[in-house]
Amino acid sequence: MRLSDCHNIDDFRLLAKQRLPWPVFDYIDGAADDELTKARNTAAYAECDLVPNVLAGVAEIDTSVTILGRKSALPLILSPTALQRVFHWQGERAVARAAEKFGLWFGISSLATVSIEEIAELVSTPKMFQFYYHKDRGLNRSMIERCQAARFDCVTLTVDTIVSGKRERCARSGFTSPPRFTPASALSYAIKPAWALNYLFREKFALPNLDTHVREGTGEAVSIAGYFNNMLDQSLTWEMADQLREDWGGTFCLKGVMSVADAKRAVEIGADAIMISNHGGRQLDGSRAPFDQLGEIVDAVGGQIEIICDGGVRRGSHVLKSLATGANCASGGRLYLYALAAAGQAGVERAIGLLKDEMERGMKLMGVKSVGELNRDRLRRR
Ligand code: FNR
Ligand code: LAC
Repeated sequence: MRLSDCHNIDDFRLLAKQRLPWPVFDYIDGAADDELTKARNTAAYAECDLVPNVLAGVAEIDTSVTILGRKSALPLILSPTALQRVFHWQGERAVARAAEKFGLWFGISSLATVSIEEIAELVSTPKMFQFYYHKDRGLNRSMIERCQAARFDCVTLTVDTIVSGKRERCARSGFTSPPRFTPASALSYAIKPAWALNYLFREKFALPNLDTHVREGTGEAVSIAGYFNNMLDQSLTWEMADQLREDWGGTFCLKGVMSVADAKRAVEIGADAIMISNHGGRQLDGSRAPFDQLGEIVDAVGGQIEIICDGGVRRGSHVLKSLATGANCASGGRLYLYALAAAGQAGVERAIGLLKDEMERGMKLMGVKSVGELNRDRLRRR
């Protein structure tokens, strides 16, 4: 299987599976407990149908939207995800460049393998920094100051990851950051020599936004669960989120809001956006799908705060269904991560290109010229 054989996100997933050692593939692909929520995030889109209008004169259409004051060519954000250097040696740089090429927002994680400063230098496309609230107050301060100095466009506080979800695939494989070559895992790495050579002989793995303050995850190999459970501050409250917003002083988003009550509190503390998200099913298994929760959250706070529907998106039509329900845009991680793992920047560009085509084709077949014409009249729940 080659890159040119990939015609949808699932194809990239298969190619990534071919190319990655299984502990790395399972870190990306896996989720918590029985992985019910991960499956539901995508399945939710199939329980609702689009109602097209025809003869609408759709030779010229406009897929652009404004997200957090910045123009985006498509109603899609590339969500922040950790450790991209492990998936492909081009890592975050590939994702940043692909986002810029398509005129999209993207995010880097607190656990990014490229620094805040380098990403800010590299691309001018709008970018968010995903903030993990650590026990180490000096580290928290340092990340905010670096985002300010580098003029990041948004800080996004992840609120659904106080402790790690129970990721059984990672428990079985012993996946760590940085990856450790133990006798048990050695074979899985040895049978993927291209990945292993790129990992060993290209730029050294680092977490440059954290390693100024902590050794775990860089100098000391730890599981992701171990990192979250020991390093993150489980006492995090709304007051602390509000204080963080104030200290940062710029555009602020909460990632992982799922209830109407919390969406209202996000408005009260003056957040600019919420990402309705269950972390791609990697945290609370059994949590509802973002798309299932979207309608009631839009009804409660739509127009008062921007609403991003995060997770499960594998098709352009999924994005259109989120918009028709009232989201400002959709976002996703695996939709570009499988492609990054499969083929670096070329892979990410091909994946976004396919989704762009699907969105454009879908809008034309729906008979809409602009994203704003999509509304609930054009959807039916089964
Ligand atoms: C993530 N996600 C994530 N979220 C976050 O706030 N900080 C992070 O560091 C990461 N890291 C991360 C790594 C990997 C491998 C995955 C798959 C996901 C969650 C991510 O931002 C997003 O919420 C989900 O990926 C959405 O689900 P889909 O699009 O993958 O189905
Ligand atoms: C994850 C992180 C790092 O989901 O947020 O693995």
